[in-house]
Amino acid sequence: MQTPRHLLSSAQLSAEEIAYLLDLAAALKRRPQKVLAGKHLALLFEKASLRTRVSFEIAMDHLGAYTMYLDPREVGLGEREAIRDVARVIARYVDIVAVRTYGQSIIEEYARFSSIPVINALTDEEHPCQALADLLTLREHMGADLRGRSLAFVGDGNNVSTSLVITAASLGMDVRIASPPGYQLPEWAMTEAASRASASGGSFAATTDPVAAVRGAEAVYTDVWTSMGQEREAERRKIDFAAYQLNSTLVAHAAPGAFIMHDLPAHRGEEITDDVFESPNAIIFDQAENRTWAQAAVVAFLLGADNDIQR
Ligand code: CP
Ligand code: NVA
Repeated sequence: MQTPRHLLSSAQLSAEEIAYLLDLAAALKRRPQKVLAGKHLALLFEKASLRTRVSFEIAMDHLGAYTMYLDPREVGLGEREAIRDVARVIARYVDIVAVRTYGQSIIEEYARFSSIPVINALTDEEHPCQALADLLTLREHMGADLRGRSLAFVGDGNNVSTSLVITAASLGMDVRIASPPGYQLPEWAMTEAASRASASGGSFAATTDPVAAVRGAEAVYTDVWTSMGQEREAERRKIDFAAYQLNSTLVAHAAPGAFIMHDLPAHRGEEITDDVFESPNAIIFDQAENRTWAQAAVVAFLLGADNDIQR
């Protein structure tokens, strides 16, 4: 079996590739091009989705490709059928697949048996498509050169923050994260972000102090306290994260006019207050919009159609 290029983790993209994908995404956003005519994408989702599903489908329509969505009740990865069999069957029908599932080990096993590219459309550990859309959004608001620009994430050391810090550190940003004790990023993600920051001239700092992380930051980002699959921990997490809410008192420590970011869905009154969410500096819906163009770029790149894109 040929081994195709997959995107399972943000750490699989070099800093140069991240910058390249963001350039491609911006070019496709300016001028959508049917570079994937005749191609087929499957979305194999084991968790709910609004943005990821819709943006992949719309991206593929802009690029001339066809999309098939398989919802969480349909396939039963590893339950109705072995992961390795599902991977081999889907590869006989389509050219590329985006998988949303639970543990990273599931998507890694899937990819081992897939002769077509596999894209991580969110696992418990990572959300690389979200991070690319977020950095595209920051480029639009801060300018293409993000070196030295500051970004603070306040909240869970989860899938979204893992991919975000690795991607932002690759581009030379000054990246900070504040999480409660016991909810910090996994060790490997901190090491990866720190080494990318030192290579790019950026910086990376992890703390348990939300004020220290947010101080002077030009963009402040948060995500839900309880991710999909963790619902039984929700009450405990509300207590543990109470001091990590993005509210006007915390945001007052950021740079004046700091951008407010959230990958959505948001739980207003928990990780973010309504006034901060609705503030004029929020770029939350730009992030959602840019999912389309980030994913268009990723699919074109993994299918080798990137050279056909006119920029
Ligand atoms: N941000 C994000 O991935 O949203 P969905 O879960 O709705 O796809
Ligand atoms: N951390 C959240 C992100 C949703 C897009 C979750 O995994 O549920």
